[in-house]
Amino acid sequence: MATIDTILSETRVFAPSEAFRKQATVSGMDAYKALCAKAESDYEGFWGALAKEHISWHKPFSNVLDETKAPFYRWFYDGEMNVSYNCLDRHLADKSNKTALIFEADDGKVTKVTYQDLYHRVCQFANALKAQGVAKGDRVIIYMPMSIEAVVAMQACARIGGIHSVVFGGFSAKSLHERIIDAGAKLVITADEGMRGGKAVALKSAVDDAIGMGGCDCVEKVVVYKRTGGNVHWDAQRDQWWHEAIIGQADTCEPVWVNAEDPLFILYTSGSTGKPKGVQHSSAGFLLGAILSMKWVFDHKADDVYWCTADVGWITGHTYVAYGPLAMGGTEVIFEGVPTYPDAGRFWKLIQDHKVTTFYTAPTAIRSLIKLGSDLPKQYDLSSLRLLGTVGEPINPEAWMWYYETVGQGHCPIVDTWWQTETGSNMIAPLPGAVPTKPGSCTLPLPGIIADIVDEQGGPIEKGQGGILVIKRPFPSQLRTLWGDPERYKNTYFPAELGGKMYLAGDSAHRDKDGYFWIMGRIDDVLNVSGHRLGTMEIESALVANPLVAEAAVVGKPHDIKGESVVAFVVLKGQRPTGDAAREVVAQLREWVGKEIGPIAKPDEIRFGDNLPKTRSGKIMRRLLRSIAKGEEITSDTSTLENPAILEQLKETVK
Ligand code: WTA
Repeated sequence: MATIDTILSETRVFAPSEAFRKQATVSGMDAYKALCAKAESDYEGFWGALAKEHISWHKPFSNVLDETKAPFYRWFYDGEMNVSYNCLDRHLADKSNKTALIFEADDGKVTKVTYQDLYHRVCQFANALKAQGVAKGDRVIIYMPMSIEAVVAMQACARIGGIHSVVFGGFSAKSLHERIIDAGAKLVITADEGMRGGKAVALKSAVDDAIGMGGCDCVEKVVVYKRTGGNVHWDAQRDQWWHEAIIGQADTCEPVWVNAEDPLFILYTSGSTGKPKGVQHSSAGFLLGAILSMKWVFDHKADDVYWCTADVGWITGHTYVAYGPLAMGGTEVIFEGVPTYPDAGRFWKLIQDHKVTTFYTAPTAIRSLIKLGSDLPKQYDLSSLRLLGTVGEPINPEAWMWYYETVGQGHCPIVDTWWQTETGSNMIAPLPGAVPTKPGSCTLPLPGIIADIVDEQGGPIEKGQGGILVIKRPFPSQLRTLWGDPERYKNTYFPAELGGKMYLAGDSAHRDKDGYFWIMGRIDDVLNVSGHRLGTMEIESALVANPLVAEAAVVGKPHDIKGESVVAFVVLKGQRPTGDAAREVVAQLREWVGKEIGPIAKPDEIRFGDNLPKTRSGKIMRRLLRSIAKGEEITSDTSTLENPAILEQLKETVK
């Protein structure tokens, strides 16, 4: 993978083609600059006009932004609306027969759903949820495979003012347990099993295990969508099949009008402590961010076929699968399976078969597909594509170029979109008909997003220097708080050192002479493994919860495909193992972390020491561990270490 130096010496620039520019929603640099200038000259007027234009309001708002309780901001806060109404009902007049969803199952079976169908399915399920006792403000956990039903479940919650919290199907029962309790969920929606790459993935049994761990008295019902028909344990009091729950339910359902600020969802993400953060999003502000980025960044048009490959368990799957494309009245592809099944041409075949115009995926997927067949895309007809996007981690220029030339055949702009679970929608990304792109840079902020790079006190940095990425003014799609933990929200995102009003993203970045942003990585203890956020502390807590383990420290190490891999340094309670014994413990601990958090968090490498490198005050020197993990020579002074000899031991890998 490219180092930051090669990225910063990248000089290639790709201006939008004349043809693309001409048809683009925001056409040309002057149009982009005009939007930015408008935002700067009248910030509230800018956002207020956009919110009026793009959202259908039940009761119009008269106030745009309330900063009196900063950093607890409120937007459009005396308005009333409903997100599901905005995604479905408002398209029925002229798009009822338009395809909303093209679902392709793992085995290739395709199901298409029109706006009319989707509306009825959402309404019917919303009525079923009401019948199960779900009311406005109740939390609903959704633990489902990629499916039409997952989108229906999310939309149905939104329709009745329920707050969903989707938990990625790859998270373990233990992680699910923690989230059910933190959210105080009344209902859990799941499936018997999911299908990925020809294999069934148990979901219902994880829900049983999670609830079985105790403390989940809040959960009254579990609704189960039958995907595979696999065997499941059944609790007749608590469990209810999806297909039975909807019997007799009307297929229309008056939306519950909610306040613009009422929470739409909570999504848990990793931070720098062991406990995941429940990022809470609003209804109207979130929706506005989704719509504007669909329009500005994805240049969405009525005849587009949009495909975002993210799972609904992540923020990308919320904004760009469950809400954004539907709010636009667009047609989108939803894919159940994996990019490598039945072979590494699956993505390209899907693009060909469904005539996808806009394709949005993660750099890690691109890198792994290059490795599995850099010529494979040429065997498919990809001529429908007109725009490509990436998200989740920095993309190295080589992967960018391959994406541009081999997938986009040199005529599709690439939108490298920087944003986060907390920001709700794209923040820094090229407007493809305006902003020339550079491989590896997410380019310039969206209009109205006042992003900057500052030093640790929030002050300006010297030109050309790196610093910490902040957003200086509140924006509609940002998180409102952390569920149940407003103090943590304040301290994490609006630290006093930065004046308490700037949003601290947690990334470091650099700006080049054209003002382009280059993201350099996290400044906290968060890893980015295959585009998934993992807290080092989370993995460490999981490891030390194992009876064999006395101490653990986890660091990231650059990885060609995954971006970063997880390296754990472990001190066992017993003797430091070697040979077969070490291999045996490594296997056990990886399995353990898989159960504690989920398979995505399994350390790629585990090394054993009699101790960890610590300062005399007992602080673990992670910087040294990162160097050891990378196999770098340690040149810095290690004399402040309590136990310098330990470094040699930790260089040994378990083979
Ligand atoms: C990283 C995903 C470089 C970044 C939407 C951020 C990126 C974290 C990019 C958020 C990008 C996301 N270029 N880095 N285009 N997009 N990141 O919350 O470190 O899962 O802070 O949201 O991913 O990850 P999250």
